[in-house]
Amino acid sequence: MNIAVIGTGYVGLVSGICYAELGNSVVCVDKDPFKLATLQSGGIPIYEPGLQELSTKNVAAGRLSYTGDLRAAVHGADLVIIAVGTPPLPSGEADLRYIEAAAAEIADALRGYTIVAVKSTVPVGTNERVRDLIRSRTDEPFDSVSLPEFLREGSAIRDTLEPDRVVIGAESREAANKVAELHKPLTDRIMITDLRSAELLKYASNAFLATKISLINEIANICEKVGADVTQVAEGMGYDKRIGPAFLQAGIGYGGSCFPKDTRALIQIAGHVEYDFKLLRSVVEVNREQRFNVVRKLEMIFGGELRGKTIAVWGLSFKPNTDDVRESPALEIMRHLTDVGAKVRAYDPIATPNFRSLFGDRGVAWCEGALEAATGADALCLLTEWEEFAKADLPELQGVMGRPILIDGRNVFREEDVAGTDFVYYSIGRPSLNQGVREKVPLLQY
Ligand code: UDX
Repeated sequence: MNIAVIGTGYVGLVSGICYAELGNSVVCVDKDPFKLATLQSGGIPIYEPGLQELSTKNVAAGRLSYTGDLRAAVHGADLVIIAVGTPPLPSGEADLRYIEAAAAEIADALRGYTIVAVKSTVPVGTNERVRDLIRSRTDEPFDSVSLPEFLREGSAIRDTLEPDRVVIGAESREAANKVAELHKPLTDRIMITDLRSAELLKYASNAFLATKISLINEIANICEKVGADVTQVAEGMGYDKRIGPAFLQAGIGYGGSCFPKDTRALIQIAGHVEYDFKLLRSVVEVNREQRFNVVRKLEMIFGGELRGKTIAVWGLSFKPNTDDVRESPALEIMRHLTDVGAKVRAYDPIATPNFRSLFGDRGVAWCEGALEAATGADALCLLTEWEEFAKADLPELQGVMGRPILIDGRNVFREEDVAGTDFVYYSIGRPSLNQGVREKVPLLQY
């Protein structure tokens, strides 16, 4: 199939490269001259393990190219995929400006029957809006398809090539079947729905996963008060097939480009039809508060006074194996720490440049290595579960720190790692692992 992908953000780029890997002829289009120059010179503007190699391989095979010329790309395509950004407006709603601009340009470039699919996450009704917009500008034949994307950063290639399911929302059965054919090599689980169900299904999936995370984080907070261990609670819950073990990892909450944006957008979508999505509003609120679990622990340890304390931070990206810092819990935690006058020393294996451009400098010492960040610190907060941190030698770490205080916001360390060290250790929802100032933990007494 000849495919044009409009927008080389995470979704567009990964999908385009993977469609080429399947043997299709793919042109990825972007307006951003910097991104385009990077792609055309063999680079990749995002960090995603394996993507660079896969792009190089498919460009060399003549199946993949990058261009700024949308018109030419659309002319030659059987399928045009819109994968431009839908950033949140201040209200939480998705901003559809880029979708509409792309749809208008595609309409003006259409030549002969083409399927126009939207892969960006868009509010219910957007595909119909795109369809009407295109129809108002051209007499060329086309069909609209909703093709929601479920890939995760850091494992985007595997998620795309081995999806749990492919969802195709369409009005035309023939168009749906053609798009289904394209995805057959990936999975047998291809579901064809109407346009609106496909659009809502994507939001509903993310809302459910976000709910799981907020639920386990609240259970973790209760564990801390009643003396239970959230990892054991989650494991036991996960064995129930109706619940499943995924997304029950307690920590400092979800971040990233999808969950925060999509949960807020779904609350807005519901609001527009006069439905108050109470459950999801709570999920968002719990997530916001959970970030401060780490700060509350620091305050408890230092008697409420963080001014002048040197706090090391390990991990700035919203999760490991990505340099994406959008909505990363580290942003708010570090903002709070610098606001109250703590001296912050931060390290991330790859996300520091992105973090600095969002966060500013705010007097933070940006370090080149994990031990360098911890050197002389009064406490260390682990905020992202990079493998490098899990492998840290705790006795060595203890040796470089001013005071051996470790707040593990992602439950990376095990009991045997901290036992035998002098660390004052706190994690999330595992009070039995607390070390050092155990007597200060207010456990519920029966
Ligand atoms: C998510 C969805 O998983 C994906 O299907 C969708 O297409 C885009 O949004 P992504 O944002 O890349 O993907 O990351 P994901 O691995 O889902 O993690 C999101 C956040 O949740 C991270 O901040 C992660 O740390 C957090 N998380 C995840 C938890 O706190 N606990 C968990 O058990 C799982």
